[in-house]
Amino acid sequence: MATRKILVTSALPYANGSIHLGHLVEYIQTDIWVRFQKMQGNECHYVCADDTHGTPIMLRAEKEGITPEQLIAKVWEEHTRDFAAFHVEFDHYGSTNSDETRELAERIYLKLRDEAKLIEKRSIEQFYDPVKQMFLPDRFIKGECPKCGAKDQYGDNCEACGAAYAPTELKNPYSAVSGAKPELRDSEHHFFRLSADTCQQFLRKWTRSGALQPEAANKMQEWLGTEGENKLSDWDISRDAPYFGFKIPGTEDKYFYVWLDAPVGYMGSFKQLCEKKGLNFDDYWKQSSNAELYHFIGKDILYFHALFWPAMLQHAGFRTPTKLFAHGFLTVNGEKMSKSRGTFITAKSYTDHIKNTEYLRYYYAAKLNGTMEDIDLNLEDFVAKVNSDLIGKYINIASRAAPFLTKLGGGCISENELDRYHQKDFGVDSSIDVFMSRLDDWREMRHILEGAYENRNYSGAIRGIMEVADSINVFFNNTQPWKLAKDGSPAGQDKARWACSIVMEGFRLLTIYLKPILPGVAKQAELFLNVPEQQWEDAASFLPEGHHINEYQHLATRLDPKLIEAMVAANQESLKPMPESHSPTRHAEHQQHAIAPVAETISIDDFSKVDLRVAKIVNAEHVEGAEKLLKLTLDIGEAQPRTVFAGIKSAYDPEKLKGRLTVMVANLAPRKMKFGMSEGMVLAASGDAPGLFILGPDDGAQPGMRIK
Ligand code: MSP
Ligand code: ZN
Repeated sequence: MATRKILVTSALPYANGSIHLGHLVEYIQTDIWVRFQKMQGNECHYVCADDTHGTPIMLRAEKEGITPEQLIAKVWEEHTRDFAAFHVEFDHYGSTNSDETRELAERIYLKLRDEAKLIEKRSIEQFYDPVKQMFLPDRFIKGECPKCGAKDQYGDNCEACGAAYAPTELKNPYSAVSGAKPELRDSEHHFFRLSADTCQQFLRKWTRSGALQPEAANKMQEWLGTEGENKLSDWDISRDAPYFGFKIPGTEDKYFYVWLDAPVGYMGSFKQLCEKKGLNFDDYWKQSSNAELYHFIGKDILYFHALFWPAMLQHAGFRTPTKLFAHGFLTVNGEKMSKSRGTFITAKSYTDHIKNTEYLRYYYAAKLNGTMEDIDLNLEDFVAKVNSDLIGKYINIASRAAPFLTKLGGGCISENELDRYHQKDFGVDSSIDVFMSRLDDWREMRHILEGAYENRNYSGAIRGIMEVADSINVFFNNTQPWKLAKDGSPAGQDKARWACSIVMEGFRLLTIYLKPILPGVAKQAELFLNVPEQQWEDAASFLPEGHHINEYQHLATRLDPKLIEAMVAANQESLKPMPESHSPTRHAEHQQHAIAPVAETISIDDFSKVDLRVAKIVNAEHVEGAEKLLKLTLDIGEAQPRTVFAGIKSAYDPEKLKGRLTVMVANLAPRKMKFGMSEGMVLAASGDAPGLFILGPDDGAQPGMRIK
């Protein structure tokens, strides 16, 4: 079979955030596919890059007091470190902020403008943040989706219904940078005329070409509308300065919108790979290319990849993608990843707690089926699957059988030698033919697995692999080599060697089958099996006669659920301050809640005049004749307890206050009241709901401690 020429990409992660377990669904999925293609002997190149342009990156760099270039260099280091830790092995990992991407973006733009006549300049009204003094990018305006009404949607597309639109179409918009209500101002913008007949016709044809999964093709139909309908709008591809990105040729203060050059980054990164490896760029990108091009993407960015991108490529004279492989979103324990639940887990946090990243690769593989359905990482199930299947069924085969072979001289038998055992009796499954056909079954499984891997149905592949693993374990248990080895007779030892050889052969097959998913384990296993780097076709052959394996070194250990608990606890937002990088939209959300205006600013000196102390409420009682007062006896470690009258009777039952801690102003001038002297004041937070600032008994506070 002629080898295929394949170019594969994963979506380019934004350079303003860390890689998290959600991202990894995509990169692990792609990496498994690429490794499988390479094992099959196909010429397959896997490229990716950081997506570095746009306002969020510009603003974040500004906030950190560094240049955008410094920021993206730092993030590039982090991202490549994280991917390497999870065995995601790109042939090249670039950056959209490269000369190659710039040149290609300009070339595509000029082709679209001058030859295809698909660029149009138009003055539009755009949102301007009067506080920050800049035009607001789509992602920094939030409001209600014009199509479905979902609240708090970004200005470019809706996460609830998937629609894309202009930010000015949002209802009740607000600036996510300053929270201000944005103003409309005029600015000249460049548009890609997606509504042109030629684009529509092309996209209808492309949708029918089989480039999309059924669910994605349905979405496309929705976006395109029925024949004759013109549902596509032109696409605004320019942004005004200040902006971090590529300047549009022929302009002074206009930049390409980040989504224009982001997919061009696939090409730019591949161009760099071509330079590195001496590949021919045009072979892969010219219109008549016979190479295959696949983009792995999340369902949230389908619109950009299924409409704009192919239309751009087509009309700029390049080939279009062979297929888009869209996947669903990750949920953890059945819910969206959440900082408050501790399930928003970064790649770094995972590796800090659980060193073995192949557990996650295994689990994701067991869940992925090639559709756009969301996938759930159930943490309990994660531990169970890893321990029962990966360790219990696969790793244990080697750890149980290898010591016998080593003891018996380490030599395996060959396929030809099997005949010698034809008449031997091994109890339950005594016929050699049964074993031979079993071995054949294990080996024949590779054809089913090939289809499963090719179709990204990794869960199907894992099921097939585990069937083989079960069968090998049954074989091992039935032949009982530990008994045979113990009897000491040459015949017994011979039989034990025979059984263990077959088991080891099965283990080698499993290792090949799992290699796209578990490349690190496979590498260790190859060392231990003393075989060269296994390719897919090696599953069709047998270990050579008298092949010696090396002594077993442990390949992986059980996953301790305590590690998961610790990881989740460490990520629980309530336990730590909000990270700086948390999206600016959060601030805007906070401003949505009405709070009482903050009082006039005071200096630290002003503040330190107030002596706040932890006080223990030793007694609390009603005050005869006073509606709202409680008489509190407070211990702050002085010789005499203090008496304070507090207006909190409506909120608290005095009995419940006894023994608890609160905070008091200890140096407030004593005040003579109708019922006696009040020697200070307790702090009570008041809002709509009744409440008093009470410290819990476990907070470690001691009466008399000063609060600063
Ligand atoms: N920069 C764009 C992609 C440009 S491609 C020319 C982008 N970046 S991203 O960092 O937000 O996402 C990168 C990829 O990770 C996307 O395909 C996205 O769908 C995927 N995922 C991000 N969070 C995810 C989950 N929670 N679950 C599954 N995939 C997720 O989009
Ligand atoms: Zn919507």
